[in-house]
Amino acid sequence: MNKLIIKTAKLSDAKAIVQVRKLTWLDTYPNRKYRITRKMLEDMNLGGPKALRKIRKRINRIGKSLHLWIAKDKGTVVGYITVFRKPGKNYLGSLYVLSAYQGRGIGSQLMTKALKWFGKNAPVSLSVVPYNRKTIKFYKKFGFKIISPNCDCPVLADGRRMPSIKMVRNPK
Ligand SMILES: CC(C)(COP(=O)(O)OP(=O)(O)OC[C@H]1O[C@@H](n2cnc3c(N)ncnc32)[C@H](O)[C@@H]1OP(=O)(O)O)[C@@H](O)C(=O)NCCC(=O)NCCS
Repeated sequence: MNKLIIKTAKLSDAKAIVQVRKLTWLDTYPNRKYRITRKMLEDMNLGGPKALRKIRKRINRIGKSLHLWIAKDKGTVVGYITVFRKPGKNYLGSLYVLSAYQGRGIGSQLMTKALKWFGKNAPVSLSVVPYNRKTIKFYKKFGFKIISPNCDCPVLADGRRMPSIKMVRNPK
């Protein structure tokens, strides 16, 4: 049976996770209005050694304050989610599902796992680019509401920051 598996990431998954992030960024973030080109994203070397080190570091830190789950389909990593619990701040850091696998409930399964980890009514915040309408709709489905513009987001190859808005679920 080829059931989708959601499980805690291991170091051996790091390369695949980096690849999911890279491919999903390239498919999702180019935008004419915000002058974000595919080339700019490629120049960020999303699949490079720095990105791999960061993911490996995160996997090594999995515990009470950080968790990273992957979604595997027939042995292939097709999505992942990272969550952080800091004093006074629960944060959903990344949620990516490969384009070819989107719209099949995988993101919802990852999100459900994460929200359970945070606790039923815990406040959780996240950032999302303003032109990512489908994703904003997805987050609203899980009770997140748009709170404010926010710039706690990656720097592009030309020095600008990715545009982003902040969403919160169960604000204090
Ligand atoms: C947002 C994302 C994680 C959702 O995962 P998913 O597996 O596609 O979502 P699901 O199949 O569980 O849920 C689909 C629902 O989300 C919405 N949705 C969001 N993105 C979608 C997409 N690309 N394709 C289809 N539905 C999408 C739909 O409105 C759908 O709602 P419905 O069930 O009422 O029809 C995924 O689409 C994705 O990785 N998108 C690109 C990267 C991204 O934006 N990540 C978030 C960064 S802040």
